[in-house]
Amino acid sequence: MDIRIERDPNPPSPPDWETLQFGKHHSPHMFITEWRDGAWHDPRIQPYGPIDLDPAAKVLHYAQEIFEGMKGYRSADGGRHLFRPEMNIARFNRSAERMCMPTVDPDVFMKALELLVEMDRDFVPPAPGSLYIRPTMFGHEPNLGVASSDRFLFYVITGPVGSYFKGGIKPLYLKAETEYVRSAPGGVGYAKTGGNYAAALLPIKKAQAEGFDQIIWLDALTRTKVEEMGAMNICFVYADHVITAPIMPESDTILAGVTRDSIGALVEEHGLTWVEESPVLSRVLEDAEKGDLKEAFACGTAAIVTPIGKIHSQGRDHVIGDGEEGPVTEHLRTTLGAIHAGESELHPEWVHSVC
Ligand SMILES: Cc1ncc(COP(=O)(O)O)c(C=O)c1O
Repeated sequence: MDIRIERDPNPPSPPDWETLQFGKHHSPHMFITEWRDGAWHDPRIQPYGPIDLDPAAKVLHYAQEIFEGMKGYRSADGGRHLFRPEMNIARFNRSAERMCMPTVDPDVFMKALELLVEMDRDFVPPAPGSLYIRPTMFGHEPNLGVASSDRFLFYVITGPVGSYFKGGIKPLYLKAETEYVRSAPGGVGYAKTGGNYAAALLPIKKAQAEGFDQIIWLDALTRTKVEEMGAMNICFVYADHVITAPIMPESDTILAGVTRDSIGALVEEHGLTWVEESPVLSRVLEDAEKGDLKEAFACGTAAIVTPIGKIHSQGRDHVIGDGEEGPVTEHLRTTLGAIHAGESELHPEWVHSVC
């Protein structure tokens, strides 16, 4: 399928790299295509701009929407590259199937990403910045009936973002959430759909008002097992292994992070065993008290790897290790950070050159 290109005749200049704010800056072009009559139509790159939406569009009422979050970087040879984009494309299509939406041909998806990043290559900041890429799909049939939309828009926008760690590395202070849950078995936890994030806003706002950085989601049925965080997976480091919650097919409540998968490989290469078993919160906290749990960290596209300093549960704070970033977390953060930035010889298969 050919992608038509309509260039912005007067593209804006890239923003000042020093003052980047996440999500605020947009590159000049976007990819867009519409699904109707059972097929995708007129895939094209066009100037970034608003989308016309009927007030009865299904997405506004029944939230038939999915998205992805991925990044592009400047390569050492002056080109640009993406990090494991095929993983995001596959996850997007799994989300689409769960939300009763059409999938996107992975080759067309990849071509759209490549063209877009190539065209707006000046908007990819130098390290430690990166280009954030947001593929999105929603149902826009103007019809209030509670049924799947018969029309969808799939688009991709991008924009430069700065380093997550501007003020330096600050270990997180987390609250184990027992009142609210993020997802339940049989639900949509493994899909990257907007409703999962909307439902998390109130619990996160309350936790932040209480002084926590973020919350840890526990399993919906027993509220005893650690699942993940708002937009990151979570891992616990012992002397000889690292443990994290399992993903599909064992569990459908957790988002299969691309970072989590990459960290799993790096953990094994570091000589530790990677264990995918639901961590029991009380056990983890006991182990922290005894000194058996050495470190804990969160991982995701935005922050790569972030140390966890303290976990609050049932009225008590539990310090992990010495409350600072531990050596395993630091190793994983710097190793994966270097691979992302194209500054490492490890895992060249994770780096997808664009131009
Ligand atoms: C709920 C949730 N869990 C985990 C992650 C981490 O996934 P990734 O490493 O692909 O960014 C994200 C971010 O996309 C997320 O939104």
